[in-house]
This record gives sequence, C-alpha cells and structure tokens, in this order.
Amino acid sequence: MTQVSDDRPDASEMDALVEAVTRGRPGPSYQQIVAADGDPLPDYIRPSWRDLGTEDIPIERYISPEFAKLESEKLWRRVWQMACREEEIPEPGDHVVYRIVNDSFIVMRAEDGSIKALQNACLHRGRTLRTKDGRVPEIRCPFHGLTWNLKGELKELPCSWDFKHVDPKRFSLPEAQIGTWGGWVFINMDPNCEPLDAHIAPLAEHFKHASYETRYKSAHVAQVMACNWKVALEAFIEAWHLTQTHPQSAPSAGDITTQYDLFGDNVSRTLTPVGVASPALEGIDEQDIYDNYLQGRTFYEERLGVTGSKDLSRDGVAEELPENTTARDQIVRTIREAIGPAMGLDFADTPAFQLIDALEYFVFPNFFPWDQAQTNQIYRFRPNGEDPDSCIAEVMYLTPVPEGQERPKPAAIHWLEPNGDWLEAPELGRLASTINQDRLNLPHIQIGLKTLARTKPGITLANYQESRIRLFHHTLMKWING
Ligand code: FES
Ligand SMILES: [Fe+2]
Repeated sequence: MTQVSDDRPDASEMDALVEAVTRGRPGPSYQQIVAADGDPLPDYIRPSWRDLGTEDIPIERYISPEFAKLESEKLWRRVWQMACREEEIPEPGDHVVYRIVNDSFIVMRAEDGSIKALQNACLHRGRTLRTKDGRVPEIRCPFHGLTWNLKGELKELPCSWDFKHVDPKRFSLPEAQIGTWGGWVFINMDPNCEPLDAHIAPLAEHFKHASYETRYKSAHVAQVMACNWKVALEAFIEAWHLTQTHPQSAPSAGDITTQYDLFGDNVSRTLTPVGVASPALEGIDEQDIYDNYLQGRTFYEERLGVTGSKDLSRDGVAEELPENTTARDQIVRTIREAIGPAMGLDFADTPAFQLIDALEYFVFPNFFPWDQAQTNQIYRFRPNGEDPDSCIAEVMYLTPVPEGQERPKPAAIHWLEPNGDWLEAPELGRLASTINQDRLNLPHIQIGLKTLARTKPGITLANYQESRIRLFHHTLMKWING
C-alpha cells in the first residue's frame, strides 16, 4: 500500500488547502488555539490533509454478507492487525488467542523469547487447539493428542505407525508474520506483506515522546455490538457528533474546531482542543468553560489518567477563574503547578496540547491509539465472524508504571453483556458514560442504513470533518480491489 509520499504540499500550500476546505467554519482553528498556548510546538501537529473527493459511500459495504466475505479474504488475511500486548505473554508458553472472522492464531511466547503467531487449528482433523489465553508447556490437541512445541514444530504424533504418510518435519503449525510497536503485537497472515514499520508510518515518529512499551494495560473492556465493525469504528473517528451525542462535553471541547489529519493511506488523526467551548454553542463564557471542565465532564485526575486509582488533593485547584485568564490557561497551569506535583510528575516541559487535548490516532484497519501525557486510551473494532450486523468493540487504557514499582499485571478482558450498558465498566471512569452514548447510536445506524438503502445507495459525508472516514474507505477499497 502507498505510504506517506514525498510530494506532499509545503506548509503554506497545506495551510491554504485546509483554509479552503474549512472556509465558513466559525471559531478559531486548532493551530490558532495551540499557538496562543505559547509553548514550543512540535512539527508533527501541523495540518496534513488531502482532498479525496466527495462521492457517497455505498451502504452495501456495511450490510452485505458478500462484502463481509470479501473483507475476510482480501483485507483481514493480508493486512497488519493488532493482536495483543507483549506484556500479556511475558514467559515462554504464555499465549493469547487472537480471532479475526474465521481465522484464529495462538500468539505465543517461545522459549527463546521470540513471539510466534501459530495457526490455531489442528493439522489432523482441524480442532481448535487453544480456546483460551494462558500458559502451556506445549500445544496439545484435546481431540487425539497431536502435540506441537512452542515454536509450532510437531513434537508428538500418537500412533505414528498409522501416519507413515506424514513427514513430521513438514507438519509444523502454519505461522503468521509478527511485528511489534509500542508494546503492541501485530500479526499479518500474508507472507509477502510489507514491514509493519512501513504500514504504521508516521506513527512511531509522532509517538517518540510517549514510550508506550513501558506502559501497562490497566483496563480492557469488550462488547459484542449489533452493528457492522465499520459503523462502530466510524463513530469514533470524528468529533463533530460531540454536541449532539455528548452534550455534556461540548461546553469545554472544541468539536468543530478539531483538526483532521491524513497521513498516507493508513494513518489519520483528530486533534480536538479542550478547555475551549464548542463554537456551535452560544452564550458560553470562560467561567462556564472552566466550570464544565471541573465539574461536568472530566476532572484533572481523569484527563491525566489516574481514574479511581489515586485520591489526589484538590489543593491549588481554584473554583473561580482568576481575572484575565482563559479557562484553558488556568487548567494547564493547575495541571503543571498543582496536579503534576501531587502525582509526583513534572509537566513543566509538556506542551499544553499534550496535557489536555484529545489527540486520537487511527491505524488502518482498526487500531486507535491516543496520545496523552499520562494514561491513554486505545480502541479496536473487529468483525464478529462473517456477520455484517455484528462486531466486537474494545476500549483499553495504557498507564505508566508508577516510579519504583513493579509492572502490574495487564488487565484481563472484561466482557460486557452484548449491547449492554457501559456503566457496568467503572474501570473506564467517565469515559464509560461517553462510550455508552455512542453505543446507543450504533444498532440504530445499522438498522437505518438498511432502510436508507432502498432509496439512497450511499451515505453522504462531510468533506472535512469526516475526511478520516473517507480515507478509511479509500484504503479499504484498495485492499478489496486487490
Ligand atoms: S483433531 Fe487434533 S489430534 Fe485429532
Ligand atoms: Fe462519541
């Protein structure tokens, strides 16, 4: 697949392009907001956008069983996809079972410390070899006992006298390719795939400051949802729905101020400013924004990712906004001067945007790492088998290991009831109620798409604010069309 090309417009051409596509939008741009913060800004937050046209997106892609089959063959069997965390398989024999559509892999730590992705199906009569994550000394099939070592080489062939036609050396478990980044393990079933680094560029460069491999998975919540995996994914890739779907957040988050960036074919990003009001709202003053940030939506501890785990002193957190101070400046100052020290952390040199803004990245086809100074969230959306009307949605947190402490064990998956309430996942803090609001839309989108398809074969996207959805489909169809 195409990567970040060298013929991108220069900075002034890019600014002109973004200016043109956002002409008429009320309020400041994201770049104006971060410039007013007064911090030295890294180059990587500059806009990166391109025009991918305005055509409707065919509804068939969301509802057709034939399209779901095509995705299984042409996408999932060839693309890099996040399977688990390295920390989940620290010792030889530790493994995670990763399923995607009809395929299943045992992501295994071998004796030499390497990671293997072994096809999870017995070469005898096909039984799934491992149905659960765990630790095993070898991989023994529960049906007749054929056994493989941790590298996937055949170790034991019961009644070998009856298998004179089988060469044990040629009876190893087929493997998928493995790649790692930031402590995440990715797999790819295509032996001729491009390297993972090329697929995820420029992610590694943008996350250089973050060292996510040293963080641990502190929460992991999953749910089967009654919608296509792309319907779910696309609900988390734009900030425009915030005012309508998450009205509690709009007074202190700039939904339509969000900057949308596209990098190559595989990576996109939203930069949503926090501590400023949505320009869609009227009559909000700085004290209202500040009150909303403090009380209504997300208090400092959650923004910095110590949800429920630490009772921070609120000393130094002013209720009243000092005169001539913006809510955004006051929030950042409080984080640097009161909250950081209370957490034992020094945020003096962390730019304001990294402390408070919502910085969400996406890597095709389904991996969403957020960039946050402390705990960051991760989303993943997968098909649930070949059913176009069902998917698996997951939310995880990555948290830095506290100074001087051992790395805590990564959180096990907390499965919620299918289509059930996300408030059953208190480990997500207030994000649970936000996801709950998104969840309530999703089955109704799936049903509505089928209704709509009778009279209108495609959905119509906003040109700028939904450009990440357009890039996603642009790349998806490259895979589908081979
Ligand atoms: S199916 Fe696995 S040993 Fe028979
Ligand atoms: Fe949402």
